[in-house]
Amino acid sequence: MNRGVSDLAVISGEAVLAAIEPATAVERTRHAFERHAAGDWAMPAKVYLDSPPRGDFRAMPARGDGLALLKWVTSFPSNLERGLPAVRGVVVLSDAGDGRELAVIECASVTSLRTGGAAAVSAQALAPEGARTVGVIGCGVNGSWAARCLAACGYGPGVCCDPRAEAAEALAAELGWEAGDRRRAADQDIVVTVTPGDAPVITKDGLREGQHIAALGADAHGKAEVELQAIASCRLFCDEWAQASAGGELAHAVEAGAVGRDDVTQIGEVLAASADGRTSAEEVTLFDSTGLAIQDLAIAQAVYEAWRDGAVEAPTVSL
Ligand SMILES: NC(=O)c1ccc[n+]([C@@H]2O[C@H](COP(=O)([O-])OP(=O)(O)OC[C@H]3O[C@@H](n4cnc5c(N)ncnc54)[C@H](O)[C@@H]3O)[C@@H](O)[C@H]2O)c1
Repeated sequence: MNRGVSDLAVISGEAVLAAIEPATAVERTRHAFERHAAGDWAMPAKVYLDSPPRGDFRAMPARGDGLALLKWVTSFPSNLERGLPAVRGVVVLSDAGDGRELAVIECASVTSLRTGGAAAVSAQALAPEGARTVGVIGCGVNGSWAARCLAACGYGPGVCCDPRAEAAEALAAELGWEAGDRRRAADQDIVVTVTPGDAPVITKDGLREGQHIAALGADAHGKAEVELQAIASCRLFCDEWAQASAGGELAHAVEAGAVGRDDVTQIGEVLAASADGRTSAEEVTLFDSTGLAIQDLAIAQAVYEAWRDGAVEAPTVSL
């Protein structure tokens, strides 16, 4: 009897980051938004499984291009006090045609590439022609990948801001940019916010005409990086309305009654040319990224292809 035995590749985060260039991450992330907007890729809503008293698990499924993915990821904020990561998990990639498992992939590396990729895709789609300089507010793990992805698309130079001066300086040195304060970072053509979302880092009085803001840090209910008045003065975009309005940067504006569904365009529709993007050089565009399973699928697809082509070192396991 055929027991459906299959060989799984088990791919580490280090192998993922060695195999996938930032420019590839940007291209693949764009592909995900386009295919989803076209109705070719499927993505049911994220499922939250509370795990009291310390955290929760999230299950994020997606299907497209003959593959199916489940990202199984945690949020245990108090782990940090015990020297453990707050967020960890795996991506399981399967063949969507027959259900065979193909790979188990470390999750943080995939998240960083698709999060950085989304920031750069949003700048390409929404920043005005001639926009070049970058402000990075929050130079931790995902802020650094956002900066790398923007740099890979030709944006820069940039100003890196973080209360941990060593983080800002290391990122600036890596990219040939400079470290600076929040006000200077927030004054660049393209501003990426990737903080824990404890306090606003974008204020209305700091905005100037023609800027593009990619707000990445507020990816769960209760987090915010952009003042309500600033949101109200921007032309608004998001990755997916259901997720962004419930737990993204826009959630507090939605709860306050300042923003409704008709005020916000999903970026996939702009990429697919079924909705307007920026409509003038002067308006300020704001993209709310909450992070979607389709983005993870796009990166996992690239990783799996690289493994199949022999470009990724990874053990295999027979189940
Ligand atoms: N949108 C998405 O797809 C997505 C994906 C991954 C993570 N996130 C979110 O992004 C945020 C950052 O995640 P991370 O993994 O990079 O965390 P991290 O801890 O590695 O980095 C956060 C950085 O922000 C800095 N910071 C804190 N307050 C700041 C402030 N006021 N101004 C400037 N910098 C400040 C910290 O010093 C730290 O370096 C989290 O809220 C996370 O949940 C979003």
